[in-house]
Amino acid sequence: MTHPRFTHLALGARRGSRAVVAQAAALAFAALALPVHAGLEEGRAKAQVCAACHGADGNSPSPEIPSLAGQPAQFIVSALYMFREGRRVNAQMTPFVEKLSNADLNDLSLFYASLRLAPPKLKMPDDQVARARAVTEKNNCVACHTPTFVGQQHIPRVAGQHKAYLLTQLKGFKAGTRADIDGTMTSAAQGLAADELELVADYLSSFSPP
Ligand code: HEC
Ligand code: HEC
Repeated sequence: MTHPRFTHLALGARRGSRAVVAQAAALAFAALALPVHAGLEEGRAKAQVCAACHGADGNSPSPEIPSLAGQPAQFIVSALYMFREGRRVNAQMTPFVEKLSNADLNDLSLFYASLRLAPPKLKMPDDQVARARAVTEKNNCVACHTPTFVGQQHIPRVAGQHKAYLLTQLKGFKAGTRADIDGTMTSAAQGLAADELELVADYLSSFSPP
């Protein structure tokens, strides 16, 4: 846990089990130490069973299912880890991770991180953009997810993600029902007023990083 990449993860462990956070961090660290190219090609083969839902190129055809293209590899490993350990549960998703090894998690994460997310189809009116931006700055969304929302380390990319999926997750974090590896996202969502959830989901899904 001394590696600088995990400083934030370690400090953020307010809720839940520190042991789980430590394990996820150690796992993600191991992932990054593997040879990238070999893992990526293995990941492409292992991802065939995921394509029906997440798209062959990581762009999900369904608005309720997240696209995975361009997510930070470390976030994908931690998300898969959370599902595999039963800390995040979804009837569609869970059966596909139960039997995956740590090596599978690593390979899949490298594959999806290497893909390009399709550009957003919708554009938000300028006055709404300004309002939504202010909300994301006031609530520090930009500090963790980065100013262009491409994510970093164990923090997901939210730019260009499906709006319906984002809205469901934000409501879940605010209600405390969406699983959260270190509790920081649940805290962040408390600052969003009910009428800001949709505004922010719209803004993020229409955001196209430069
Ligand atoms: C039957 C459909 C289905 C299949 C097949 C499937 N998933 Fe998923 N996946 C989902 C759904 C639905 C969610 C969102 C769950 C939620 O709302 O918490 C999800 C979420 C995820 C997430 C979290 C993404 C995020 O932004 O939080 C990852 C990572 C993921 N899936 C990877 C995979 C991988 C890798 C495979 C193949 C081994 C796979 N999925 C197979 C439906 C599926
Ligand atoms: C302290 C850091 C931090 C801040 C501040 C923060 N987030 Fe997050 N966010 C995270 C982490 C970490 C996750 C992943 C949680 C998990 O899956 O266990 C996350 C997950 C999400 C997700 C789910 C995405 C997915 O693919 O499943 C959305 C949407 C999101 N954040 C939006 C926001 C918005 C909007 C704000 C501002 C109101 C915000 N975040 C502020 C760290 C942060």
